[in-house]
Amino acid sequence: MRIDVVTIFPEFFDVLDISLLGKARRTGILEVVPHNLRDFTHDRHRTVDDTPYGGGAGMVMKPEPWGEALDEVLPEHPDARPVVIFPSPAGTVFTQAMARELAGRDHLVFGCGRYEGIDQRVFDHAATRAEVRLVSIGDYVLNGGEVAVMAMIEAIGRLIPGVVGNPESLVEESHEDGLLEYPSYTKPASWRGLDVPPVLMSGNHKAVDAWRREQQLERTRRVRPDLLPPE
Ligand code: ADE
Repeated sequence: MRIDVVTIFPEFFDVLDISLLGKARRTGILEVVPHNLRDFTHDRHRTVDDTPYGGGAGMVMKPEPWGEALDEVLPEHPDARPVVIFPSPAGTVFTQAMARELAGRDHLVFGCGRYEGIDQRVFDHAATRAEVRLVSIGDYVLNGGEVAVMAMIEAIGRLIPGVVGNPESLVEESHEDGLLEYPSYTKPASWRGLDVPPVLMSGNHKAVDAWRREQQLERTRRVRPDLLPPE
């Protein structure tokens, strides 16, 4: 998969060199290419923002550098409609299902906004040649899209076949079956007066599965009842 990221902080994405995604980049499974939005400006100060029409606080990102940056990263071919994702607290909420869907694509483009946002015409124009989505990683406000894009790249990247060594570890985790995951234990069997639940050491796989399922349900009911279907 190829991922292009347009940002005024390309160095933010240096951390993708480490851990599993770094390995995937080195082996060629995943190509992440950051682009500096300021490289698409033509003034001495490399200006990317301006005051909002209609007034109000803050600055708005100018359309011209965005237009040129997207011209560079979007394919010419009219049939190749890649997904362009703009992280935004005003977007639809990113989920595991969305990560899985996006992990099946060949090409993703992320556009990181800063300041009060990006001129609306950038989205409208991009929509003529790509599938444009505004996506939020949660109901809180970040200073810009970079951290949100990092989170999305990690969630999507680990679902690309070959990135996570043991694909089975992807199956039994939170959100994959709509529930939160069960608690995990390892050796020693007793630690600081706290014992591992005996069922996990019983060797009875059926009983272990039933216990884990019950733990998932109990935890989801307690912590995230919104994930459960209405009764
Ligand atoms: N940019 C600022 N806040 C954000 C959020 N919650 N999700 C995605 N992008 C953002």
